[in-house]
Amino acid sequence: MKKELTVDDFIKGIPKAELHIHIEGSFEPELMFKIAERNKARTRFKSVEEVREAYKFCNLQDFLDIYYEGAGILTGEEDFYELTTAYLEKAASQNVLHSEIFFDPQTHTGRGIGFSTVIDGIHGAVTDAGGKFGISTRLIMCFLRDLGESSAMKTLEEALPYRDRITAVGLDSAEVGNPPSKFREVFARAREAGFLAVAHAGEEGPAQYVREALQLLKVSRIDHGNRCIEDDELTEELVRRRIPLTVCPLSNLRLKVVNRLEDHPLRRMLERGLLVTVNSDDPAYFGGYINENYSAITRALNLTAEDVYKLAKNSFEASFLNEGEKAEMSARVDEYKNS
Ligand code: ADE
Ligand code: ZN
Repeated sequence: MKKELTVDDFIKGIPKAELHIHIEGSFEPELMFKIAERNKARTRFKSVEEVREAYKFCNLQDFLDIYYEGAGILTGEEDFYELTTAYLEKAASQNVLHSEIFFDPQTHTGRGIGFSTVIDGIHGAVTDAGGKFGISTRLIMCFLRDLGESSAMKTLEEALPYRDRITAVGLDSAEVGNPPSKFREVFARAREAGFLAVAHAGEEGPAQYVREALQLLKVSRIDHGNRCIEDDELTEELVRRRIPLTVCPLSNLRLKVVNRLEDHPLRRMLERGLLVTVNSDDPAYFGGYINENYSAITRALNLTAEDVYKLAKNSFEASFLNEGEKAEMSARVDEYKNS
């Protein structure tokens, strides 16, 4: 282990993958103002400081209201391109080698923006980022669970012509009252079309939603999954099947999923043998990108450099890279540790 480094410096340098990032959640206020001006759009805020001041959330819904308001500024293909490029540049600067990015088409198509505008902008940016920043990517299209299954089905139909650009479908937005069981058919259809599947579950919702996501939606990863730990049998299944959890510490703190990071279940998850990863969720809203998430949880739970190494290794194992790519990137984690 790199003895001369502080754990924080070890975190900054270690190669890692990010598997839970909503591109609309990386929309920094500075970029919001720039794009709003270009689009001659109005915002109810007068300054960047005023926007940041508004980012005090009581729960998930409270956050979602302001997150959808911010995303409403995105209009043209270049807006999606610029948003995605800004995130990828930042992620690469934090030694993210690979990122699996969520996008929420319904947030935009519901306002009359074409599906093609959204996907062309994001896809253009991820394609260029490979060469510009040396970062590899996959795209995950999320269905907004509060809009119901028929809207999700329509969105899936719109995505089919872009099948080669999108690796998986996901499920996000207001969790409680919108269980995975409502989305059985659209996930079955998506899997038939060749998409992999993930779902947010057990963030605010109960362990039962995690079970439903596994059994009914046949997901290969659970996003968040905090509350799985309340159910021993479910936890055992997740461990046995090596189903990854994409955990987001600063998000959990800001959305009051935990009252203090010291109460976060991540250490217990690791001790139970769960395939845990650390991610930023919505970095522009929750006060940190991936390295700040690793640092905050490391400090709160007294994690060691060995734990950080484990989390970074997990991030590649849990990714949708092929086995060769996983082996190559994972070897870079070992090289870093042993150098
Ligand atoms: N959309 C963006 N961030 C989310 C989160 N943390 N939970 C559910 N939906 C989201
Ligand atoms: Zn999320």
